[in-house]
Amino acid sequence: MKVTPEQIKTVYDQSNAVQHYLSKSRRDGVKVDWEEPFSRSVFKQAIAPVSKNKGEKLRVVDIGAGTGDGYVLLSTLLLKDPELSGSYELEYLGVDISTQMVETAINLYGNHSNVGFECADIRTSKLARPFDLYLSCGVPYSHLTHKELDQALKMIVTNVCENRSRCAVIVDVLGRYSIEWTPQWQNSRWNYSMSFFQSEGDKDPTWMSFYSHQHLQEIMQQAANAVGCPVEKFEFFDRSIMVGRHTSTRQFNPGLPNYRDLVNSLLSPSQQTDLSQLIFQVELGAAPEHILDFFRKFSSWWNRLVSDATELLGEPLAIATVELPPEVQGFKAAAQKELQQISDKHLYRQKLEFMLAQVLRKLEATQQPGYGVGHDLFGVMWLDATRL
Ligand SMILES: C[S@@+](CC[C@H](N)C(=O)[O-])C[C@H]1O[C@@H](n2cnc3c(N)ncnc32)[C@H](O)[C@@H]1O
Repeated sequence: MKVTPEQIKTVYDQSNAVQHYLSKSRRDGVKVDWEEPFSRSVFKQAIAPVSKNKGEKLRVVDIGAGTGDGYVLLSTLLLKDPELSGSYELEYLGVDISTQMVETAINLYGNHSNVGFECADIRTSKLARPFDLYLSCGVPYSHLTHKELDQALKMIVTNVCENRSRCAVIVDVLGRYSIEWTPQWQNSRWNYSMSFFQSEGDKDPTWMSFYSHQHLQEIMQQAANAVGCPVEKFEFFDRSIMVGRHTSTRQFNPGLPNYRDLVNSLLSPSQQTDLSQLIFQVELGAAPEHILDFFRKFSSWWNRLVSDATELLGEPLAIATVELPPEVQGFKAAAQKELQQISDKHLYRQKLEFMLAQVLRKLEATQQPGYGVGHDLFGVMWLDATRL
């Protein structure tokens, strides 16, 4: 099904979409402590191989830039990361189909030097100059049909070849096998009406595309092959396996525990969390064996860490003992040591909940397989057209 520019614009060219992106409540603990650092780490890995000499320009185009979140993420990374700080002079262009998004982004960041925003449809527009990083975040490519994604990527790869450049292309899409939508796992494109934008009586369908690692890599490789551009390598990253926004709305999987709210509660000093609710208890959908196998392993590690925390509270859960991955081993002993000095019960619990949130974040970040099992699937493709 072809999506017209008007349909996409209808979704985003409405003030509540812009308001949603700018609202303070959108930047909850999970976004700030889990999601944004993970996205920055993907950006960092993407730019590492195309890195330049100190002080040189890093030319970035952000596809589906919205109100400029990608610009903020990237400029924070370049400013604050100890290994990157002072390395690059950022030259950033954000493109988006929605005039309202572009106007808002210009109002927010248009006066920053070397920053621009333009209105364009990635399916039909051409890029006029070369870039070192073809960035995307917030799943803009999922608005495109699979065929349109192929076309948009061909346009990007053609731009790379024409300019004989070496660069990274980050393609951020919705993961097909997220627990947020297990009943839809058999479909790669379905109506994902964005409840958080809608007001009463405004329920237009929003068709979105969902990807497994294999499907996304196929499309990326096809685009490179069609243009004849050598791919140096691919990498894939899952973000928000347990804490996607729709674990809060439960719009596509009503029986799902509200993991995002629970993790936000762990991160909030003023809230006490019922840790037993955090146990992974999700009825999975139909999926290839490696996906089911991942969830079997991941859920056993997740549950082990939750139950280690409940044991420290003197409220044990009946969870099987499993060996944890090296990155998160020793959580219980470290927490015990850290907490032994604390006699105040409230403070003890507060600190333990915070430590649990940190170790669960680390579990997600280090064990994500890049299969399409999270809310976002980032595909990174490094291209080298310098010898063509
Ligand atoms: C979910 S928002 C993400 C915005 C931003 N990157 C962020 O992370 O907050 C997706 C964006 O993709 C834009 N978009 C959708 N289809 C597009 C197209 N064909 N060309 C350009 N932008 C598009 C939408 O207007 C919207 O701003």
